[in-house]
Order: sequence, then C-alpha cells, then structure tokens
Amino acid sequence: MSKSISGFSKLSKSKKIDWIVNTYFSNKEEAKTILKQYWNSNEKLQQLHDEFIENTITNYYLPFGVAPNFLINDDLYSIPMAIEESSVVAAASKAAKFWLDRGGFKAEVISTKKIGQVHFMYNGNYDTLKAYFKHIKPQIIAKAKPITKNMEKRGGGILNIELVNKTQSIDNYYQLHATFETLDAMGANFINSCLESFADTFKTGVDNYVGMENTTIHIVMSILSNYVPECLVRAEVSCKVEELNEDDTISPQDFANKFMQAVRIAEVEPYRAVTHNKGIMNGIDAVVLATGNDFRAVEAGVHAYASRNGSYSSLTHASVENDIFKFWIEIPLALGTVGGLTGLHPLVKLSLEMLNKPSARELMMIAAVAGLAQNFAALRSLTTTGIQQGHMKMHLMNILNQFNANDIEKMAIIEHFKTNMVTHSAVVEIIENLRSS
Ligand code: MEV
Repeated sequence: MSKSISGFSKLSKSKKIDWIVNTYFSNKEEAKTILKQYWNSNEKLQQLHDEFIENTITNYYLPFGVAPNFLINDDLYSIPMAIEESSVVAAASKAAKFWLDRGGFKAEVISTKKIGQVHFMYNGNYDTLKAYFKHIKPQIIAKAKPITKNMEKRGGGILNIELVNKTQSIDNYYQLHATFETLDAMGANFINSCLESFADTFKTGVDNYVGMENTTIHIVMSILSNYVPECLVRAEVSCKVEELNEDDTISPQDFANKFMQAVRIAEVEPYRAVTHNKGIMNGIDAVVLATGNDFRAVEAGVHAYASRNGSYSSLTHASVENDIFKFWIEIPLALGTVGGLTGLHPLVKLSLEMLNKPSARELMMIAAVAGLAQNFAALRSLTTTGIQQGHMKMHLMNILNQFNANDIEKMAIIEHFKTNMVTHSAVVEIIENLRSS
C-alpha cells in the first residue's frame, strides 16, 4: 500500500484512521483500539480537541499533577503541572514545602516588552530610507489602529518602531524592529497582525514618496520574535545559612558551599549548564503546558537568553553574604492568561482558576518560581544523596507497570524499596522472585 496520500485532511476522522491503520500497522484492530480508547465519550469535548489542530485522530494524554504549598509574595498557591517525568511534581512539592517554612518565594516582573520585526531588502541610499521611514512611521501606526485600538484601550499596544540597518550582515538587509506591550495576552497573533499591517503600509507608501522612485523595497517576512530578553521575571529565595538544615548528613554551611559550587559550575560549563537549565524547564514547561501556553516559544526564548553573553550559561545564581543564603532566577517568559487556548481548553481554564485567575505578570512569577524550585530540588539531591535515589523511587511505578505488576505485587515491592535502593535489575529480580514463589 502506498504511504503517500493526497486529500488526507479532507477525509473523515474514521477514514483517516482506516488509512493510517491499513498503511502502517500489521495488527490493525489493536492499533485502532489504542487510537479509539483515548477518545473522549463527551462528544462536544472531543470535537473541541479535534478542532484544535488538523488531522486529529485521537488525544495524547499527559499526567496533570499539582504541587501545593508554594508561598509566592506571601500568597499560597497550588501549582498545576502537566508533565510525564516521574519525579518532577514530587521535587517541586518538596522544594515548595522547604521554602514555605523559610519565608517562601519572592518574585517580581522586571519588564514585559515583546518584539516583532519586518525583515526587508532595500537597494537604495540609507539616508533616503531613514527620511522615508520618518515620513511613513505615523502612517504605519495610524493604519494599524483597527488592530491596536482595543489593546490600547486596555493600556497596551505598539511601544515603538525603529528602522535598523543590517547591511553589515547581509547586503541590502534592513528591519522595522517593533516593541509591543500585550498585557495579559501572549500576543503572538496581535503582534503578527500588526507587523503584516506595518509591512503593507511601509511598502505601498513608497509609491507616493518623492526620492524613492528608483529603489525597491522587498518585504521578506513579518514575524514576532520569541527572543524576549525584555519580558523578564525574577524569583528568589533566601534564608540564614543555618536554616539550610534539613539533611543531617551535611552541615548547613557545607551544603551552602556545595550548592554554590554546583551553580558556579553551571555558570561556566555549558555541558552542565544545559542539564541544569533542563531541570529548570522541567518546572516551567509543566506550568506553561498546564496553563495552555506555548512551551516551544518559551523554550526557544529561554535558551537564547541563557547564551546572551556568548556562552551558554546557568539561568539561576546563588550567593552567601553575611550568612544569608540567596538563590535566584532571572528568565524571559512571554506568557498569556487570555486568548489562545486559555479560554477554550477546560483543563487550562481549571488551571488558571486554581491559580486564582492570574494576570500574565502573575503567571510569569509563578512559572519562574516553579523553575527555581525545581532547580533547588535537583541541586539539593545532586549535591547530597545523588539524583538517582529520589528519581528511581518515583520511577519504580513505571517499571512495575512495564511488568504488569498487580496491586498485591506493587504493595509488596514498594514496601521492600522503602529501605532498599531502587535499580531496574533489583526490581526485575524481586518481581521474578515473587512470581516464582
Ligand atoms: C532531570 O530531568 C533533570 C536534572 O538532570 C536536572 C539537573 O541535573 O540539574 C536532574
């Protein structure tokens, strides 16, 4: 059977499934059953999910968990997290509890500017282009009014548009570099619509401008940037060094020193920094997903920011001064709490309600805190017990499920591993022993 098809998107859902199953699966009935068992019996809800994207054939579940006890700027939150990795919610919850007893997290939004660019080619004199831009700029803004007026009423809109000369990088290459305030919206559609309007006004305005007759402007593309170094949030925890006293295998002073060394290593060593920041993103992505935000945009922007000084580096930092341990994160997060999926996906709505219907600024702080907490938990394990102890404890259930352990086997094995080290082979051995006895 041919593996290519035309008109796939026009087929009904069940015809799409038939084609996929007949083309790719030897056990067709089993494949069909798996696909269909994830359909929601609530037809309206299923239709909603079907219509999020093209060619939906089923739903893809992720666990939706909650990490309680997050004290952020003196308010308590239970943070919703959508993530598949066994230990992440447990680690976040543990870190939240640890800092709950030590004053909680402090967070602040530093700035909320977002950026979009019209990239274009121009083959004439730069001074002429500058003069033309000065002339056309008020019209660019005026012609975008139908798009911007509602945002402006709420206090946002276009902050600035600049002409940027990029001819040192590529011959004839220039940009309109625009900054926006999009308030509680992530703003991608708003920004992209504005930029396409800017490009149109900019290009067509040339026809009526004396001085640009023998030149051409070719618009290459108009698109927002997911690099948002000016949409920045900071979160922090601090306490007296002596209060870092949870683990009796290490003194608080030694813990603080080792912790700072671990952060310092991530600041200077890219191989470590990537894993360190991955741990931070375990927390942030889980919140971003649960609240219906675009985790790919967030990931791209965060990692670009982590390399802003020319070498990939840690997003968190730590210090001890006057016996006060401080640990903080500064991170760009362009998030929204209106628009997109936020008003559509029932679990996203529920997440936002659980967070007390936050503004985008509040959600930026919550997500940054989740990242900081995750990094604290990871570094605490890494510098004391090692990561595998906690991780494998949480992963135990996955191994048991791989072996189709029943409830009685699960109970016995979990009990056994309360006092024994979990490894894959140790779990297999105990399952085999149980089953043969
Ligand atoms: C695993 O998902 C994340 C960690 O590797 C993060 C880290 O090493 O800091 C534990």
